[in-house]
Amino acid sequence: MTKIPLDDFLNAIDERKDYFLKSINYNKKIDLKESENSKEFPDFKKSVHIYSHLDSDGLSSAAIIAYALKRADISYQLSVLPQLETKYIKEIKEEIISYNRFIIFSDFGTGQLKFLKNELGSNNYLILDHHQPENLKELPDIFHVNPYYYGISGESEISAAGVCYLFAKTLDPKNKDLSSLAIIGALGDMQNKGDKGSFIGSNKLILEDAIHTGKITVERDLSISRYQPLYIALAYSLPEKLPTISGNEEKVKLFLKSLQIKIKNEWNERRTLLNLSTSEKKTLLKALISEGYEKNNKSKEFAGKLITNYYILSNFDPISDAREMSKLLNACGRLGFPSLGISSLMGDKKSLLKAIEKNKIFKREISAGIRLAEENIRNYNSINTFYHNNINEKIIGTICSILVHSREELKIKPLIAFADSDNHFLKVSARADRELINKGLNLGQILREICQKMEIINPAGGHPPAAGAKIPSMNLKIFIEEVDKAVEIQLSN
Ligand code: C5P
Repeated sequence: MTKIPLDDFLNAIDERKDYFLKSINYNKKIDLKESENSKEFPDFKKSVHIYSHLDSDGLSSAAIIAYALKRADISYQLSVLPQLETKYIKEIKEEIISYNRFIIFSDFGTGQLKFLKNELGSNNYLILDHHQPENLKELPDIFHVNPYYYGISGESEISAAGVCYLFAKTLDPKNKDLSSLAIIGALGDMQNKGDKGSFIGSNKLILEDAIHTGKITVERDLSISRYQPLYIALAYSLPEKLPTISGNEEKVKLFLKSLQIKIKNEWNERRTLLNLSTSEKKTLLKALISEGYEKNNKSKEFAGKLITNYYILSNFDPISDAREMSKLLNACGRLGFPSLGISSLMGDKKSLLKAIEKNKIFKREISAGIRLAEENIRNYNSINTFYHNNINEKIIGTICSILVHSREELKIKPLIAFADSDNHFLKVSARADRELINKGLNLGQILREICQKMEIINPAGGHPPAAGAKIPSMNLKIFIEEVDKAVEIQLSN
């Protein structure tokens, strides 16, 4: 029988579980009641401080670990950071020494490995991450969990939430019901890149757990927004633009009229994709396919892209779509309300309702940010950039992603965004379309190497299509030149 890579990864996670339980003095046999009876002093467990990233994958990771610790009766505290910068690592060192805490880093840590080792040594912390390590030839240390060491891609096959989920499941098989949170995290990192928005690799197995535990069902439908009014969804959210109708709501209305699909119901409310009957959906799909091939010269893959998987959550009413939940979390994290997102995932209905309101604010901020970004795009030889002092550093990543994935003209080169950060630093977010990644582009590697070369204090990092950094503002010009050159070299190879 051929061994699947996940076996080695799971064995490694099991070893890390033992290391973790030993480090916090966890002893299942001793509980308070028993020790009171026998007049023994209980063996108190160390408390844990979880540090996690602020995006959707980071918040899902934090919620999974928090849930698992709560169930195991291990006390914990939780902090969410934009990135694990060196200044925080110095503070965490103090915390370990003064308060005897154990630290779990989720969705970051791999990129800061050298610094963590130098500052914290090799004990009292655990990294649960999925970012590409700098040196894959070195064996991972006992405090480090990362799928790349076991031949599993952290970019497409498992997210940080997935890694946290496997760890939680190893701690206690009952945590299998947390698998849906791992799927929400993976969707946040856009890992459903298989055919029809499906999952591949470890994510596929995690999805099976979520289906078996009744937390997720998978539905297939047209790949346009299911919640926007139908004519708006068709005008703006088709997976590939159709120049004859895209971006023009009036033309879409005429197109729907020609198909005898009503845009409003009998109460004069605008209909969404979810309100269409099966036969209306079939008619619409057929018409979109012929519009694509007959009038818009689409490639043969176009029809396939019009249908996608939807991951339907059973226990986050009124949110049912896992992708929507993921966006909600991203909004909470980036607007500065990560605890609302995490509590929502942990079943707090009031938080979920507040998070929905925050998401509406976030959408408005993003729309305004996109307009500013578009007005300020600069073209270089191999990259595009934007900067505006009114775009908040916490949302440039999201804006950069939306632009690269929705504007055909921005798919040709990577987009590098800059926003003001603290103390004369700039936050950098870099994104590239999949086609460029297939041609060999690796933005995580480029930013990491350039920041190392420029001796920038905070390590940069990320994945091939999405990476980030923090650079001194005065280095902006030279940084752009370096990235421009590095992208050209990578793509010409
Ligand atoms: O910050 P931003 O959203 O642009 O980051 C894109 C990706 O790069 C994320 O996965 C983030 O965790 C990662 N990143 C990193 N090291 C940094 C900055 C970002 O690994 N210094």
